[in-house]
Amino acid sequence: MTQAWFTASHAPPEPHLPPGWRVMGFESLDSTNAALKRIVEQEGDVHEGLMVWAATQTAGRGRAGRVWASPRGNVYVSILVAAPESSARAHELGFVAAVAVRETILELPRHNAGEPKVSCKWPNDVLIEGEKVCGILPEVVSDDSKRPWIVLGIGINLQAVQLDPAAYPPTALSAHGIDTTPAHVLTVLTRSLYKWLAQWREQGFAAIRTQWLGCGPEVGANVAVGLPEGAVSGAFAGLDEDGALLLETRKGKRRIVAGDVLFGDGQNAARD
Ligand code: BTN
Repeated sequence: MTQAWFTASHAPPEPHLPPGWRVMGFESLDSTNAALKRIVEQEGDVHEGLMVWAATQTAGRGRAGRVWASPRGNVYVSILVAAPESSARAHELGFVAAVAVRETILELPRHNAGEPKVSCKWPNDVLIEGEKVCGILPEVVSDDSKRPWIVLGIGINLQAVQLDPAAYPPTALSAHGIDTTPAHVLTVLTRSLYKWLAQWREQGFAAIRTQWLGCGPEVGANVAVGLPEGAVSGAFAGLDEDGALLLETRKGKRRIVAGDVLFGDGQNAARD
């Protein structure tokens, strides 16, 4: 692995990390998710809260095999979390991360008046005023004793945004009066994630689901989801107890476990 990098201008905020958490910073990596997975697979002695952070990525990974453009100035971090006992619950961590990122954004100092609308888009995106500011990619990896871990890959746009026209419209924190640094975002984010992980473990997914629903689409909002067989649209009917998206479609209720929300405009859907 490339030598870890720390410079004065990008000093890692280690003194402010939750107890036992540690960040390895790099000038450039292929992908922080790929790098953290290599560490888990090859170096064995790992712990929850081990993080890999890069100033840029040359092969940033998005969901569904997409590329995550990674210009300098944004947050690219992967955080190691102990997998739940049941592998069927692993995806819940994406929601935990989304709730933590939303809280982080709301806690960052802003220089303009008024609080921006920071919302969650199923399954794991965070939006500001309807535009994507953060993407989350949870991936599973096993260490040399076959113990499973979750790598929570988090990309937050601070200054520069992805310009892929096919992607959900992008935005950055700076466009909403938030001028901050990757190090400061990481300090606030890790504190929030540490707290929500504890709640998830103590109270189960219900606590996270309630939080997510409080910032997700309104029940009844028009939502369209891209599925391998084509797009399906309907009225948002909530999240199932395991995080599946519930849609009221013309053909009845649908439970969607994987897909991409193409739009969710918050207006009431016409139901017939
Ligand atoms: C998405 O498609 O919305 C998920 C994007 C996740 C991007 C982050 S950036 C840090 C980490 N490393 C990666 O290669 N991807 C994730």
